[in-house]
Amino acid sequence: MKNKTLFKHRRPRPLTFVVMDGIGYRANPEGNAVSQGYTPHLDWLLANCHYTLLKAHGTAVGLPSDSDMGNSEVGHNAIGAGRFFPQGARLVNEAIASGSIFEGKGWRRLIDFCRKHDGSMHFIGLFSDGNVHSHLDHLKAMLKHLALHDKVLRARIHILLDGRDVGETSALDYVIPFESFLKEINRQAGVDYRIASGGGRMKVTMDRYEADWNIVALGWKTHVAAEGRTFGSAQEAIETYRKEKPGIIDQDLPPFVVADGSGPVGPVKDGDSVVFFNYRGDRAIEISRAFEEPDFDKFPRIPYPNAAYAGMMEYDTEAHIPKNYLVEPPVIGNTMGEFLCKAGMRQMAISETQKFGHVTYFWNGNRSGLLDPNLEEYVEVPSDRVPFEERPWMKAAEITDRVVEAIGSGKFDMIRLNYANGDMVGHTGVFQAARIAVETVDLCLGRLMKATQKAGGIMVVTADHGNAEEMYELDKKTGKPKYNEEGKPKAKTAHTLNPVWFIVYDPSGECASLRFNPEIKEPKLTNIAATCFQLLDLEPPELYDPPLLMANG
Ligand code: 3PG
Ligand code: CO
Repeated sequence: MKNKTLFKHRRPRPLTFVVMDGIGYRANPEGNAVSQGYTPHLDWLLANCHYTLLKAHGTAVGLPSDSDMGNSEVGHNAIGAGRFFPQGARLVNEAIASGSIFEGKGWRRLIDFCRKHDGSMHFIGLFSDGNVHSHLDHLKAMLKHLALHDKVLRARIHILLDGRDVGETSALDYVIPFESFLKEINRQAGVDYRIASGGGRMKVTMDRYEADWNIVALGWKTHVAAEGRTFGSAQEAIETYRKEKPGIIDQDLPPFVVADGSGPVGPVKDGDSVVFFNYRGDRAIEISRAFEEPDFDKFPRIPYPNAAYAGMMEYDTEAHIPKNYLVEPPVIGNTMGEFLCKAGMRQMAISETQKFGHVTYFWNGNRSGLLDPNLEEYVEVPSDRVPFEERPWMKAAEITDRVVEAIGSGKFDMIRLNYANGDMVGHTGVFQAARIAVETVDLCLGRLMKATQKAGGIMVVTADHGNAEEMYELDKKTGKPKYNEEGKPKAKTAHTLNPVWFIVYDPSGECASLRFNPEIKEPKLTNIAATCFQLLDLEPPELYDPPLLMANG
């Protein structure tokens, strides 16, 4: 099918591509901050425009199974690259199953280093089975191998508590069995493996896109210097903090250091080796830089031990961060951005800090930086540094100001933007705030629609995965909400398995003569890139999954 048939009378410009991060579709209104929101613009679009639903989770986006919820990394990778790639979660599973991870030079280097110096091996990472940034099974497999095959005597584990990709107060469901696992391994192999420090993932270590280096600095103090409030165990720390601050959720728990009679059990020292066991890059890059960069200046590293470091993967394949890693990342080339640059398309990418890398780094296949400075402009609107349930509007209005101006300027062929609200506020588990987040996005859509109409452009509204449309934990069997001890629905902070909308808004009405290709039985995020080429009136690259649209008759 030739695209020329899509637009008989004009070449619409610009194509404004809106990612409503974390706003999925779910029919049931219970706990649904999207359907319960006041969203006149979204309602209008759904009533008057062509739209379809796209699969945004599981195998369709390169995750191990269809029980894996979608996430922004794989979602933006899939949108930006027009086809799926086996993602970190799958690649690490395979490397562990085949044993190749333990034969690779990344792992061998760490083992040799700490053996030579009689040091300890440290593991830092997100401690859950959320399978978005990491998986507990990977950590356990590495510890087993370390104890039974490499026979390294001391390991220390620094646990970043999740509550964001898994149940919001589920930390002990992981910590307690893990302590038994360590006990068993210690007994069986005669080793000394212990949890040494930790804290909520939003408080220590896992900052992203340089939104707040203080978070990483606090992580350094906690894991490396072993400075901070001490407890006899991770369990004691979690229980104490929960008692002191009722209602606190795991991702926000303060840092803790585990100590015994002789002091903290696991500062990182000269001669030690460190693995950061997250495979996803956005929240792993800053701590990797702190460990690896000789002239790092974001915070004083006190102390800065002579330790060998490796990340689970190469997180940035352009800037080569980190230098040492355990598993090769997916090689995501021939992205939409690359092809559009080759075709001379002028592009703008914009979001606020929290999602800036999503529309640049993830979109471009985990590469930071401009592809072509002559054709592209990347704009970051600084995010607030506050709990987002307190400011659910976030920076959506400021982003919209810039995009409205860009649409009217005639300077761009395609403008892509990400509204963080549905996702970032969805992750807080606060229903009212999530509803306001969705309404904020809707208000902004109205402004974009007007600007698009005025400029003679066209607009796509979609999302990378769901979140805000399912704010309660649901019973898998009945589909009804679970309730807490107070009889209130249990808040859900994680992403979902729900599909997302793909809406084409063409104010000229010309798209009335288009339709979705009925031969594409299960449309997915990977069909988007080729569809953007159609909407830009360009031939989609052959290697992409097929475009969604076709001319009517
Ligand atoms: C996070 O990092 O905030 C969550 O684990 C995943 O959210 P995202 O995939 O929407 O960024
Ligand atoms: Co999210």
